Amino acid sequence: MNGKVFLLHRADLAEGQVRRVDAPNGCPLAVYNIDGRFYATHDVCTHATASLSEGEIIDGDMIACPVHDGQFHIPSGQAIAFPCTVDLRTYRVLEEGDDIYADLDQESEAAQSAI
Ligand code: FES
Repeated sequence: MNGKVFLLHRADLAEGQVRRVDAPNGCPLAVYNIDGRFYATHDVCTHATASLSEGEIIDGDMIACPVHDGQFHIPSGQAIAFPCTVDLRTYRVLEEGDDIYADLDQESEAAQSAI
């Protein structure tokens, strides 16, 4: 698994919070803690260039873009609200004890099952 990158320790991100993590290859990621489960997406909004990690988690599992209020479903990356029409890239998250990793070579399970 060449795309595996360390994101953070479980205690570094409280429930209901999102944080930007830059992967070693420079890829900007947004990491989310939703009810104790971790998710990772690309950090850049597909509408323009906003950083989604500066947005707000709403309705349980949606991220609202801080610039034009577009919204994405975090587990699947699906674009939900205008002006976002292009889905967000997601990454499979691996939880190993207190360490949280992403596999940059694989989409999240929710995105894969939506294909
Ligand atoms: S930059 Fe995110 S909705 Fe426009």
